[in-house]
Amino acid sequence: MTYFSKGDIMNVAILISGRGSNLKAILEAERNKKIAKAQVKLIISNNSKAEGLKYAKEFGKKTAWLESNNFKSKEAYDKELAQIIKSNDIELVVLAGFMRILSPSFIKQFKNKIINIHPSLLPAFPGLNAQKQALDCGVKITGCTVHFVNEMVDKGPIIIQKTVDVKDDDTEFSLSNRILEKEHEILPLAIKLISENRVNLIKNKVRIA
Ligand code: GAR
Repeated sequence: MTYFSKGDIMNVAILISGRGSNLKAILEAERNKKIAKAQVKLIISNNSKAEGLKYAKEFGKKTAWLESNNFKSKEAYDKELAQIIKSNDIELVVLAGFMRILSPSFIKQFKNKIINIHPSLLPAFPGLNAQKQALDCGVKITGCTVHFVNEMVDKGPIIIQKTVDVKDDDTEFSLSNRILEKEHEILPLAIKLISENRVNLIKNKVRIA
């Protein structure tokens, strides 16, 4: 299966929950014309106080925020989220530090149109605190992964990975920062490749053309 962007320029929504450094990396890549076939049309946060929303303002992007406590259920939240995404004609949803698990029905509606960045070499260390999990396990190499989101958390087809060496004196902070540098490379790159229709899914495995 090839991802086909509908038009010349693929409309992208970025979902964040906090700091937003990956969002910033994407917006800078867009500004520097490194992802010429995609445009960030909308930034959505599940937290109106998310630090990263300052980048939306800085780069003049439309913003929406959906606070969970304003909704009766997870389903109601995801329904509203889906509505916002559809009404903005979004073709790719990018989870950039979006710390909320999306419901299977939401994911089904946007099959192969949601990608996520995770701070480990999946399938190792899924879930929360991936960097700490890596340190606790004593691995010598870890890294980050961009993958398609499917109904199983952190298990969707892998698009790009980058490795990071673990140093003997690493702390969670130092390791997280080095991984983050690589995240800032591969997340904009994944958007670029998808927008150029170079990402193919064959038997649930990604092949880059
Ligand atoms: C990033 O390290 C990202 O990989 C991680 O949250 C951080 C968000 O940073 N995401 C996950 O752990 C998802 N399971 P940012 O807000 O500065 O982009």
